Parts: sequence; structure tokens; C-alpha cells
Amino acid sequence: MIEQTTISNFHQIFGTKPDLVVRAPGRINLIGEHTDYNGGFVLPAAIDKAIWLAMGRRNDDELHFHSLDLHDSYRGEVGTFQKSEKNWANYLLGVISEAQKDGLKIGGVNVVFGGDIPIGAGMSSSAALESGMLAGLNELYDLKLQKLDIVKLAQRGENRFVGMNCGIMDMFASMMGRADHVLRLDCRSLDFEHFPFHAPDFALVLCNSGVKHSLVNSEYNTRRAECEAGVRYFQAFLPEAKTLRDVPLDLVLGEKERLPVHVFQRCKFVVEEIGRVGAACNALKTSDFATFGQLMYATHEGLRHEYEVTCPETDFLVDEARGHAAVLGARQMGGGFGGCTLNLVRAAAVEGFVAQMTDAYRLQFGLKLVCHNVKITDGVGVIQVADFR
Ligand code: GLA
Repeated sequence: MIEQTTISNFHQIFGTKPDLVVRAPGRINLIGEHTDYNGGFVLPAAIDKAIWLAMGRRNDDELHFHSLDLHDSYRGEVGTFQKSEKNWANYLLGVISEAQKDGLKIGGVNVVFGGDIPIGAGMSSSAALESGMLAGLNELYDLKLQKLDIVKLAQRGENRFVGMNCGIMDMFASMMGRADHVLRLDCRSLDFEHFPFHAPDFALVLCNSGVKHSLVNSEYNTRRAECEAGVRYFQAFLPEAKTLRDVPLDLVLGEKERLPVHVFQRCKFVVEEIGRVGAACNALKTSDFATFGQLMYATHEGLRHEYEVTCPETDFLVDEARGHAAVLGARQMGGGFGGCTLNLVRAAAVEGFVAQMTDAYRLQFGLKLVCHNVKITDGVGVIQVADFR
């Protein structure tokens, strides 16, 4: 059990028991990719892959972090730290830095963390780390933060300190997830609804291409800039438009010849994808998984040809899945340029599907494909160590 490992390592490193342990899950996103920062809708869920943080309050202002998976430690001091060369530490420092800007009083803390969310696989290990850290600090220092405050602080930490201009979906899903439900989040108003995901005959299988999405930071920020350029263009027609959410598809299509090619493609994808989330929710309401699956394929085609954030490995995985009788839909998930594909597969056929995909991937790329049959779980939870048996 990872939580026990984090507790025993904490004990070994610091000579005391931690005060609490936080479980911070990764997320999947069923549909609605690159729509969050365009004011659109997303449909994510927290999953049974998580980071566990054992945390203890210190009597001084020192920060001691240890990553079990990276076998690396960081030491610093509250209020005086800079961005670290250890990139992983910046996710923790970023949320402290933003919390301090809000005037929140945080003292020293010891943290040991580890987990089973693969890094760079599009399952949002970074958002889990940020949200989990804040949830723990909230308890240790009685910060009186609501869940939504934590979501917003986590995003600010990543945007301003880490430098990744991500949207709000990942931390929202990690904090607000509920077992057996997906979240339909309106990223403009931040209104959300838990939708039952009742699909006993189906499994959600992630196929991890193993391609770490290293391009994701720069290219992701470029995509955002292209979308913003699109909004500025359409403001000539719709002065009140703030994001691509406000731009109707026929207006986008009508401007094809006048817009720069890339900007047109990005806008078309985003506006269509926002529409697909609505269609996917309707399909879920009537348990129409065939339609849901078709929408997933349509998303992948858009990501591939219009948003241009896929790679040969994830394209191959989706094409391969499409040929499998037990698969209803497949697409690349997350920021892009690698990571996982998400597959909606008939539950009885998961084993055969995984075997076929693994063989095909090895033959094509000589690479080992790791698959995860994920379950939808609750979001971030704080457990007082006294409650552990
Ligand atoms: C990354 C970002 C999210 C979202 C997705 C794409 O995961 O962190 O905010 O934009 O990419 O949908």
C-alpha cells in the first residue's frame, strides 16, 4: 500500500509520524479536450491512480520535501525560495508561493510523497500533487480554504510559478471527483454537475504510449495563443465574445478563407469539441455508449488533423483500437504529444483487447505498452494519521 510506504518513509526520514496523509487522485477526461481554457465544457473524473502525501507540520519555517519515486529531496524556507532546478519541487513551491500572495500564513512542513500516476502520461500527476499539497496545508495550518479555493490556487501555482498555462480542468477533477460519477464542468462559470457513469458492461482502459509529452509546455502555450488570436479576430463580428465558447460554428466555418490556416483549424476544433461535450452528455443520459464512442473518435480526428497535438504512437493506438470489435471509442487524452489513449471497451473483452494492443504496439514500435483499466473514484481526501490502523 502506497500510503503505508509514505508513512514509514516519513518516519524514517523525519523520526516522527506524519500528522496526516492526503490521497490526491489523477484524472481521466472522457471528452472535451482543450476546451477548458476556451471557456467551454469538459467531462473529467478522478481515478484510482493517486499521489499520496504524508505531511507533518514543523515548528520552524523550513520546507523539507522528499519524492519517493524520484529518490530526490528538496530543502528550502518559506517566504524566501526561488524556482528550483528540481522541477518536481516547483509544483509544491508554486502553491505555497500563491497562497502566501493571498496573505495565507504557512509555516514549515515536511512532506514525503509517492504514487502510481505515471508522470507525463496525461493523467495529471502535477494537478494531483498541487491539489494534495494544498489540501494538506489547509488542515495543518487551518487556512480555511474551500475546495474551489484550492482548485484556483493550484491552477495559479502551475500558471505563474511552474510556467505551464494550463486550464482548470485537472485540479477541478482531482478535488471535486466523486466515485462512479463524471463531472460536467462549465469552465466559464465553474458550475458543475456530477453525472452518474453507470456502465457495468464497459471498461475505461488507458493505453500509455510511453511517449512523455515533453513538447506539451511550449506547444500547449502556442495553442492557447492561437485560440486567443481567433477570439480577437471574431471580436470584429461579436464584440462581446470573450472566448471561443462565444463563437458559433457557422461563423468560424464562414471565415475559413480569411483566417490564417492554423488559427482556423484550432478554432474549428475547439468550437466543435465544445459541442461534442453536450452531445456526449445526452448520450450518457440515455446510456447510448455507441454514440459516446463515435464522439470520442471524432475528438481524436480533430486533435490529429486540426489541433495537431497527437503523435504517431497515439494515432497508431487509436487506429488499432478502432479495428477491435469490443471497442466503442478511443482517443488521445490530455494535453497531447503522447501520453495515453482512452478506450471505451466492453468489460468482458478487456483482456483480449489489452493483449492485442500490446502485441501490435511492440510489433510496430518495439515498445512496451502499459494499459490501465481505471475506476472512477472520489477526489482528494485527507486522512488524519491517528485514523490509520
Ligand atoms: C492539460 C491541461 C488541461 C487541459 C488539457 C487539454 O491536461 O492541464 O487544463 O487543457 O491539457 O484538454
